[in-house]
Amino acid sequence: MKGVILAGGLGSRLAPLTRVTNKHLLPVYNKPMIYYPIECLVNAGIEEIMVVTGGNDAGDFLRLLGNGKQFGLQDLHYTYQEGEGGIADALRLAEHFADGDKIVVVLGDNIIEKNIQRAVGEFFAQRSGAKVLLKEVPDPERFGVAELEGNRITGIEEKPKHPKSNLAVIGIYMYDRQVFDIIRPLTPSERGELEITDVNNAYIKQGSMTYDVLDGWWTDAGTFESLDKAWRLVASGGANKLEEPALAGAKTKQRISGE
Ligand code: G1P
Repeated sequence: MKGVILAGGLGSRLAPLTRVTNKHLLPVYNKPMIYYPIECLVNAGIEEIMVVTGGNDAGDFLRLLGNGKQFGLQDLHYTYQEGEGGIADALRLAEHFADGDKIVVVLGDNIIEKNIQRAVGEFFAQRSGAKVLLKEVPDPERFGVAELEGNRITGIEEKPKHPKSNLAVIGIYMYDRQVFDIIRPLTPSERGELEITDVNNAYIKQGSMTYDVLDGWWTDAGTFESLDKAWRLVASGGANKLEEPALAGAKTKQRISGE
């Protein structure tokens, strides 16, 4: 399984902080924002990672991350998204990198308290389809919101005015190779973007979408309010925690490589 981090966009909701730099290079407590999604994937045993960047100062990612040695990686892959076509448009750029493998996609401004080892292990065992992670939130209208029937996910609405649940679809998605065929015919939404929610709803329609509810806190960091929240959460206890670091990491690695 491979990992893709989406770190493009102009970060306009954080202007003027983002006028001369990329949102994902801004600090969240003691690290640049982009460190958190990389650690999240590495903790789940994923060692082949592509960063999709875009917008301002894309070269700074290379200066900051290099080949990912500080995360224990052999190398890092990069690609560049022109314009602001949305999450699904950015993901399209990872097709060659994925090369038919399953992928775990993490939005570059999403930060979690714990880890995604269980969900990644489950998705490794899932024959095909996709998996999303859900989290109860007090303000679901800011996110993609899941509708559940029993233990099935029956639909996702993007930023609904009247949310059908308080379960946000967080920015960590798992897809099989079909994802690129699903993106190809998509058309831009009202906000002019190819929506990841449209991709997820296509899998739901197929009946091949599963979900897991995330353990521990989750936040995005793309607005002043959420950036401030992310900073405080990280400062007060840290992010990307492992239950039993050595043991859990080794187990996931085994599951993913099928050893
Ligand atoms: C995006 C997705 C949304 C998801 C959120 C998670 O929203 O469209 O479904 O819940 O990320 O961070 P955006 O940040 O583009 O507003």
